[in-house]
Amino acid sequence: MEKMVNHSHVLIVGCGLSGLSLCLKLPNKLRVTVLCKEGLMDANTAWAQGGIAAVSSDDDSFENHIRDTLIAGAGLCRTDVVEKVITQAPQRIAELKSWGVPLDPSLHLEGGHSYRRIHHVGDKTGQIIQQTLIKEAQKRSNVQILEQHILIDFILNKQVTPEVTGKTQVIGAYVLNKKYQRIETFLAHAIVVATGGMGKVYLYTSNWSGATGDGVAACFRAGCRVANLEFTQFHPTLLYHPESPNFLISEALRGEGGELLNSKGEAFMKNAHPLGSLAPRDIVARTIDLALKKSGEPCVYLNMTHLSQQTFAQKFPVIFEHLKNLNIDPSTQWIPVVPAAHYCCGGVIADLSGKTDLDGLFVIGESAYTGLHGANRLASNSLLECLVMAHECAQVLAESFSGYSGTLPKDVPVWHYPKKSDDDELVVVHHMWDEIRTLMWNYVGIVRTNKRLARAMERLKLINQEIRNYYEDCWPNADIIELRNLGLNALLIVKSALKRRESRGSHFNKDHPETLQEFAKETVLWPGDEFR
Ligand code: SIN
Repeated sequence: MEKMVNHSHVLIVGCGLSGLSLCLKLPNKLRVTVLCKEGLMDANTAWAQGGIAAVSSDDDSFENHIRDTLIAGAGLCRTDVVEKVITQAPQRIAELKSWGVPLDPSLHLEGGHSYRRIHHVGDKTGQIIQQTLIKEAQKRSNVQILEQHILIDFILNKQVTPEVTGKTQVIGAYVLNKKYQRIETFLAHAIVVATGGMGKVYLYTSNWSGATGDGVAACFRAGCRVANLEFTQFHPTLLYHPESPNFLISEALRGEGGELLNSKGEAFMKNAHPLGSLAPRDIVARTIDLALKKSGEPCVYLNMTHLSQQTFAQKFPVIFEHLKNLNIDPSTQWIPVVPAAHYCCGGVIADLSGKTDLDGLFVIGESAYTGLHGANRLASNSLLECLVMAHECAQVLAESFSGYSGTLPKDVPVWHYPKKSDDDELVVVHHMWDEIRTLMWNYVGIVRTNKRLARAMERLKLINQEIRNYYEDCWPNADIIELRNLGLNALLIVKSALKRRESRGSHFNKDHPETLQEFAKETVLWPGDEFR
C-alpha cells in the first residue's frame, strides 16, 4: 500500500464554525490543513437555525447574559469561563461581520434569555456562516481544505519513539480518505479537534448524519479525560413528520410568541414553568416527554397561527419553505413537534484555548468541555463558544510558533491493514448502529432510571467488545470507524449518567429526582474508566 504522509504546522480536524474560524485567524506563515469528514457544508454549524448570543443593546448587559447562562447551567458552570466568553462576545460578532456574514440588525429571543440578544441571519444563520467562512478560507494560500477525510486515531510520540519519557505528545493522525478508501498519515506540530457533537448516538436527533463524536472518542482513546457527558441536551421541538427526519423547528419561533399545545389545544407549559413555552430547554423537553407518555400520542404541537403567512415566511424563510413542501401552513395549522437529542454539554476537558491533557492536542467547540454550559447549555451560546475558543486557540498557537523550529519525525509506522473483511459482515455493523441508537433513546433518554442505565451499561459493554473484535480484523471504512466511536461515546455517556446520582439540568433520573450539593461538581472520566 502506497505511503501517504501529509505535513502541516496545524492540522484542524473538522470544518464547522470552530475549525473554520480558527484557520482564518492563524498567521499566514503557518501551513494549515483542514479535514472535512464529508463535504464542505457538512457540519452541525450549517444546520444551526438559531444564532449567536451576544449583548448588544443598551437595556441589556453582560451581567444579564452571565446570569441567564448560570441559571440554565444549573449550578455547574465555571463562572470564570462564562464571564470570559460572554464579555468578548461582541468582539467575536464584529469579526464575523468583517468576514462578510450578513447578520440581521434585529435580534431574536430564545428560551432562558431575559433579553433579545440572538444575532442571526433569518433562520439560516449556520448555513450562511458556513458558506461565508468556507469562501474566506479558500482564499488563503496557506490553508488546504480536504473533503471526505475521516479521523481514525491519533499518532503519539511514544508510538514512534518508545524510549521517550515525559508527557505524551500527539504528533499526527491516521485518517481514512473516503474517496480512495485508503488510510493516510497526517503529521502536524499542533492538532486541533473541532469535530462537533455526538447527537447520532441517539435515535432521534437534530444533528447532521456525521455527528458521531469522532474527535471525543479519539481523544479519549489517546489518553484525554472527558467530563459531564451525561448532560445531553434534548431540543424540545424537532419537526415530527414521516418524510422529514432531523428537521429543527427553532426556539426562535417560541421567542416570537409560539405556544406549545397538546392535541386538545391545552397550553400545557403554562402550568409547568413561569416562562411557559420559553422555559429552559431541559424543562420544556421533560414536560413534553411526560405529556406524551401520559397521552400515548406521538407528538405535541407548536401553535404559530398568530403570525400571518407572510410574516412567518419573512421571519423564518427556511422553516416556511420546508413546511410548505410538506403541506403544512403554519399560519393556519399547528406544527407537530417532538424533543430530540441536540447538543452535548460535556466533552474533552480543555481550557478556553483548547489545551488538553496531551501536548500538541487541542479541542475546541462542541467536542470540548470548558465549563461554559454546565448542566444545560443556554440557547445560542454554542456558536459563541466556537468563536471564542477558536480566537483563544489561534492566539496560543501563534505565540507558540513564533521562533519555533521544531521538526516532525521522518518515519512513523504506517497503518497496519488487516485482511479484507467480508462485505456480508456489514449487516452486523448496521445492526449494531441501530441497536446503540435505539438503546440510548429508550434507556438513556430525557428521563432515566437506575435500572435502565444499568441495562444500557451491560449491553454497551458487550457491544463495544463485539465492535472491537470486528474492528481488529476489518478493512476500515467510514461505517465501522463511526460505529467504533458511537459505541465508545454511548458507553461514556452511560458511565457518566450512572455516576451522577441526582437530577440536574439536562440529566434527570427518576430514582434520584432531587438536586444534591454533593454532586455540584463535574463528572470526570479517565481512560480505562469506561469498563470499570
Ligand atoms: C434553535 O434554533 O432552537 C437552536 C439554537 C441552539 O441550539 O442554540
